[in-house]
Amino acid sequence: MPATIVLGTQWGDEGKGKAVDYLADGMDLVVRYQGGNNAGHTVVAEGRLLKLQLIPSGILYPHITPVIADGVVVDPRHLLKELDEVRRTGVEVSRLRLSGNCHLIMPYHLELEKVTQRFLGRNALGTTKRGIGPAYADKAARIGLRVQDLFDERIFREKLEIVLREKNAILTKLYGRLPLEGDAIVEEYLELAGELRPYVTDTSALLHGALRAGRHVMLEGAQGTMLDLDKGTYPFVTSSNPVAGYALASAGIGPKEVERVVGIVKAYVTRVGAGPFPTEDLGEDGERLGVRGQEFGTVTGRKRRCGWFDAVVLRYAARVNGLTELFLTKLDVLSGFERLRICTGYRVDGQTFEDLPPHQSLFHRAEPVYEGIDGWLEEIDDARTFEDLPKGARGYVRRIEELVGVPVSVVSVGPAREQSLPIG
Ligand code: IMP
Repeated sequence: MPATIVLGTQWGDEGKGKAVDYLADGMDLVVRYQGGNNAGHTVVAEGRLLKLQLIPSGILYPHITPVIADGVVVDPRHLLKELDEVRRTGVEVSRLRLSGNCHLIMPYHLELEKVTQRFLGRNALGTTKRGIGPAYADKAARIGLRVQDLFDERIFREKLEIVLREKNAILTKLYGRLPLEGDAIVEEYLELAGELRPYVTDTSALLHGALRAGRHVMLEGAQGTMLDLDKGTYPFVTSSNPVAGYALASAGIGPKEVERVVGIVKAYVTRVGAGPFPTEDLGEDGERLGVRGQEFGTVTGRKRRCGWFDAVVLRYAARVNGLTELFLTKLDVLSGFERLRICTGYRVDGQTFEDLPPHQSLFHRAEPVYEGIDGWLEEIDDARTFEDLPKGARGYVRRIEELVGVPVSVVSVGPAREQSLPIG
């Protein structure tokens, strides 16, 4: 059976948790493929509000095996805490499978991120301070520690000793901080290892077997395309690759397995942290979107920057991910606007771009070219079919499809499962 990739198409916070939860119904395995506990999924299921950061939202379905694949960076303290929270809501968590190849977020990653972001001053990226960047940097530098290292005390100690020598030199000599104690880290992490052990599996073999047995696999990305390390607005990005291609590298399956690539799209755009955002609205309309959409970060509580729908960004996301369909979220937030704006291109130095400008500096200076479109005044959160929506709302969805050239398969008008309206 083919696999489905589900990912964010903007700067994250597109409502992936809700969409993944909806799509997970027909799946047997749900795989998280990158990022760490910098992501935050809020899921409302059967009246329960759950905030998931590392665990795939498929955990809520008893028939689904949730999997954390190689490309995710894992803070073991956080994972165990999250498992505990989910367990306390009455959900059985023993089905979780964790790859032994995942890199660990270590205490020095958190410490180093704090001091380096402070050091950058007004040039700081505004990261989530979860140690994500430093952990991926060590992975690339080949000095990272992995989940599997936790199960060999000698190796764990040896690797930690080597890496801590360098990290402590940086912390003490460069940043004037206290050094971290190797023994204390070993003691804590080996204790956590015992608790993690039952979940650790060869996830690539598990997925291969599942696909061969005709089971449905969904690969779930965190953050969004514009935060991708290679394809996003570098350096204002996260340190992993949310794009579809990476789902395969992380899960360890081949491209022929993938049939659907679902892009999660918010009906307007938000961004947290620094970096270019051409359709940002700093006026009343942006404020209104933020209030109606409750645009505050799940992880850091930061207020999200808000703006109009950007078809250039979505066309780009459709191209780099090979999107086959769109899942449009938070359409209800746009109720009450008589007219809406959609960005169809950018103007930079008198030149018009319909695609992302080829140089980052041009993108920084991009002025949106807007078209106006009729909105709708009534609330739409009680709509249960696409046809229930007012003419303006349907027109808005159809215009997005036209501008991007990818069909919208589901429109979401609220956080609950029954507020997802399938089209066609
Ligand atoms: P990091 O992922 O913590 O390294 O942060 C890098 C950038 O990605 C910052 O601008 C963060 O605000 C942003 N970011 C990371 N995770 C998320 C997310 O789940 N939603 C939205 N933005 C995110």
